[in-house]
Amino acid sequence: MNLRLISLSLSALTFCTGAHYTYAENIKIDTQNSSLVLQADKGKKLKHLYYGGKISNEDVNNIRQAGGKIFNAYPDYGMLTMPETALAMIHGDGNMTLDLVVDGVSTRKENGADIRTVTLKDTQYPVTVKVNYKTWPNENVMETWTEITNNEKSPVTLTRFDSGYLPIRNGNVWLSSFHGNWGNEARLTEEPLTRGIKVIKSHEGVRNSRYDHAEVMFSLDGKPDENNGRVIGAALCYGGNYKLRIDTDETDSHHFFAGINEENSQYKLGKGETFTTPALALAWSDEGVGGASRSFHKWGRNHRLAHGNTPRKVLLNSWEGVYFDINEQGMANMMKNIAQMGGELFVMDDGWFGVKYPRNNDSQGLGDWIVDAKKLPGGIQGLINEAKKNNVSFGIWIEPEMVNSRSELYEKHPEYIVNADKRNPKFGRGKTQLNLDMSNPKVQEIVFQIVDTLMTKYPEIDYIKWDANMDIENHGSQYLPADRQGHLYIDYMKGLEKTLDRIRAKYPDVTIQACASGGGRVNWGILPWFDEFWTSDNTDALQRIYIQWGTSYFFPAIAMGSHISAAPNHQTRRTVPIKYRTDVAMSGRLGMEIQPDDMTETEKAQTKKAIEQYKEIRPVVQFGDLYRLLSPYDEKGAASLMYVAPEKDKAVYYWWKTRAHRNEILPRVAMKGLDPNKTYTVRELNRIDRKPLSFEGKSYSGKFLMERGLEMPVNHDVEKEMQSDWSSRVLYLEAK
Ligand code: DGJ
Repeated sequence: MNLRLISLSLSALTFCTGAHYTYAENIKIDTQNSSLVLQADKGKKLKHLYYGGKISNEDVNNIRQAGGKIFNAYPDYGMLTMPETALAMIHGDGNMTLDLVVDGVSTRKENGADIRTVTLKDTQYPVTVKVNYKTWPNENVMETWTEITNNEKSPVTLTRFDSGYLPIRNGNVWLSSFHGNWGNEARLTEEPLTRGIKVIKSHEGVRNSRYDHAEVMFSLDGKPDENNGRVIGAALCYGGNYKLRIDTDETDSHHFFAGINEENSQYKLGKGETFTTPALALAWSDEGVGGASRSFHKWGRNHRLAHGNTPRKVLLNSWEGVYFDINEQGMANMMKNIAQMGGELFVMDDGWFGVKYPRNNDSQGLGDWIVDAKKLPGGIQGLINEAKKNNVSFGIWIEPEMVNSRSELYEKHPEYIVNADKRNPKFGRGKTQLNLDMSNPKVQEIVFQIVDTLMTKYPEIDYIKWDANMDIENHGSQYLPADRQGHLYIDYMKGLEKTLDRIRAKYPDVTIQACASGGGRVNWGILPWFDEFWTSDNTDALQRIYIQWGTSYFFPAIAMGSHISAAPNHQTRRTVPIKYRTDVAMSGRLGMEIQPDDMTETEKAQTKKAIEQYKEIRPVVQFGDLYRLLSPYDEKGAASLMYVAPEKDKAVYYWWKTRAHRNEILPRVAMKGLDPNKTYTVRELNRIDRKPLSFEGKSYSGKFLMERGLEMPVNHDVEKEMQSDWSSRVLYLEAK
């Protein structure tokens, strides 16, 4: 037998045996730091052989003999006793089984990425499934997704359609996941995986990260560690209902499935139709959860986030400053103030529109995107002119997917809302809010027109805050036929994505924020069309440390709207000094959410200084590598993190006291990510102390800073009337 091993440039290893061409292929798919190995023997099941740190072709040769159970790479339902599967369907004839085997493997390039596709075919039915893997030479993240095509004469019904499956390993694996609520988003939970099934899912339809996040990390070496150990990070890149399942079986093996939530979403595929699942992004790290976060941030900025490599402007958003009380004088005043403080953008939030139903509160006006001339006689153009006078850009709030029953749009077109036949509409915010049915092409056109009209009339609009404040609560489409009602959640997202595609094709440069009652749309599925998200409606600095900490596991600082707001805070009523509020806001995309007229001159002066200094550190914060140093969740009395520029010549260090007990010993925090051989000079930003810190202007090696670190004084050295138990520091480190 003439057994040959051919190593293809695309890392596919092919075995050919004599004349019989028994085709056996091990496919090795490499990211910068990891390998995924699949066994793709033609006519056989696609098998998962390995996912972990990068291995050589030699390792792959004998990988099948390395021992241990081998699982199908994309488990299909019907011919297996495996309890959980990734794909299930009912064929036109009622048969509920699938038997997918490998038909072929292909590769292609797309915008600098390599895409490997394994085509699977059913042994009896004309059903094809393409399993895709996308990688980039300089990224640690890979994306996987599938395309399911029906060629049967009659429609098939998809009852499960995961984007991907991954056998994790057996034994002591811990899960990090993120849960919360309005104003308390992205709380970190860490737990060992135990026998049974853990399900994390969304059924909100629109605000899919409001409660639970579609991103998880698996720590393979026990309890999650920030810097050490093997970790798999997984993010389902989808803006709609999702479901993550981790099944720990009788051998203590953990099986991970991720995809669109199939509940109440059975999907019919007609002849020739293809269902494409959203991408599941996977990152391998041997530098703990911190390493996985950095990989996601880099991949996100380079490949997922709109304008991921463009610096973001410092803005003032009008919401917490004036709420619905919009008027020309007030807006002009806010613009003047943000300009004086050094800001670069002013955003007019809710309240500017509605003629028959002026938007004076949240019970009316959504849908009627016509300026309220009583409030703004000079119209949008007047505001833009005012912004220009102040040398700031202008942005505007819209909520295009929604309508109030008290609106002209609803009066004309009640058929455009999401509503079940024979049911009265279910109202949300303001007891009148409703979802427009994005599965309906006419609604898609309306939503496109909202943006198109604004942008055509006022091309100088620089920023759009795109809000979404309601979940799909009454399941029903007035557009979809009776036998396709199960498509609503999925077709809503498809319709939204299509509309966003059109908007981005015509307006590629406008900055768009994804807001959904705060952090309800923090996911990698929506971000390709958006530049950032509003992290939370909760702007309380102390609670933001926790919210932003959790959010930072998968999302970079550049995308995280982080605003200085009033004291007492409007959500928690906590009174936090301006220094602390500023020091927290400066760890994300800095902005303001306040009525500047209510600020004292000292507060204004401090904010002005902070904005000036933020501009200096902006490239490090927005494009640097994040190192989380001391977790607020550890309740050690302080929290700390830092960003390091890719060249490691600059870094910004943050330290926030989170609790104050007299004589409590707060831990000294060693730094991370610096170049041990570089010497860094330390400068405190946002300084309020009478005397400089003892290490101000001093130089230390990266090694020293990472071995020992600098000890932060517990309190500020300030005049008596400024003294409080709040304390925080921002240090800028620059290498000579
Ligand atoms: C909810 C958002 O999260 C807020 O920031 C604000 O834009 C309001 N909607 C406006 O109604």
